[in-house]
Amino acid sequence: MANNLLKGKKGIISGALDTNSIAWKVAKRACEEGAEIVLTNAPVAMRLGAINELAKECNCEIIPADATNVEDIEKLFKRSMEIFGGKADFVLHSIGMSPNVRKNKHYTDLDYDFYHKTLDVSAMSLHKFLSVAMKLDAINEWGSVVGLSYIASQRVFPDYNDMADAKSLLESVTRSFGYHYGKAKKVRVNTISQSPTKTTAGSGVKGFDSFYAYSDMMSPLGNASAETCADYCITLFSDLTKMVTMQNLFHDGGFSFTGISMEVMEKFNG
Ligand SMILES: NC(=O)c1ccc[n+]([C@@H]2O[C@H](COP(=O)([O-])OP(=O)(O)OC[C@H]3O[C@@H](n4cnc5c(N)ncnc54)[C@H](O)[C@@H]3O)[C@@H](O)[C@H]2O)c1
Repeated sequence: MANNLLKGKKGIISGALDTNSIAWKVAKRACEEGAEIVLTNAPVAMRLGAINELAKECNCEIIPADATNVEDIEKLFKRSMEIFGGKADFVLHSIGMSPNVRKNKHYTDLDYDFYHKTLDVSAMSLHKFLSVAMKLDAINEWGSVVGLSYIASQRVFPDYNDMADAKSLLESVTRSFGYHYGKAKKVRVNTISQSPTKTTAGSGVKGFDSFYAYSDMMSPLGNASAETCADYCITLFSDLTKMVTMQNLFHDGGFSFTGISMEVMEKFNG
């Protein structure tokens, strides 16, 4: 259901890899709500090609940018402003990747070059986006930047590996930069802490199916889907959440505040 919540707004959406991507759903919802968008992803992700379909559906341009590369990010914001004929109103950071997870390195025995890459791609990239945007004055007052996090930033999920550290850093950058950007330009910065979701990045985590099922059983509303996550992103891009900033907002069907559920207890009934 569309409510024109983003009518007249312009936004940059990163991280749409395929139809399962959270960013894919956000892009489609943003367009339904009347926004004009540009898409961006790593040049290597372009080769998979699916993003071209999304660009067609949303009638928008794709600007390749490696989120670890400041020059690429500068080009991304400059080109976006040309396309928009002005500043952006919202930015989605939907980027995560861990070579240690990919290569099955155990958390107690990380490859440190990989570890650096995990933090750079998944967390420092948000700092780079924000820093470039601020220097170029590329986001309008009351604009909104949203990143995607996971509760492993705060509680231990052993197989989430070094991505847990990346999410802790992502949430910290959100608070710290959110303060400075709020003071300087009234730009808002938040993360959404999303339920496990069946996407390329999600399914790459060891034991994903078990913790997806556990999380679903623990959450009074069940796991939150990528579609409902997109809806939540839209509210944060809209003017209805103007005073929300520097927050990590749980979008998890109640998982984060549930100690135990009846369904999980029943599993232990002898
Ligand atoms: N799937 C889940 O269970 C889940 C849960 C909570 C949070 N998240 C987060 O949501 C975000 C989106 O992930 P997703 O689940 O939609 O998976 P996804 O695999 O569809 O998206 C990850 C995206 O990151 C992009 N990316 C990787 N390296 C990049 C780089 N160097 N530069 C630019 N882009 C790069 C990929 O191309 C891809 O589009 C990530 O931050 C992820 O950690 C996912």
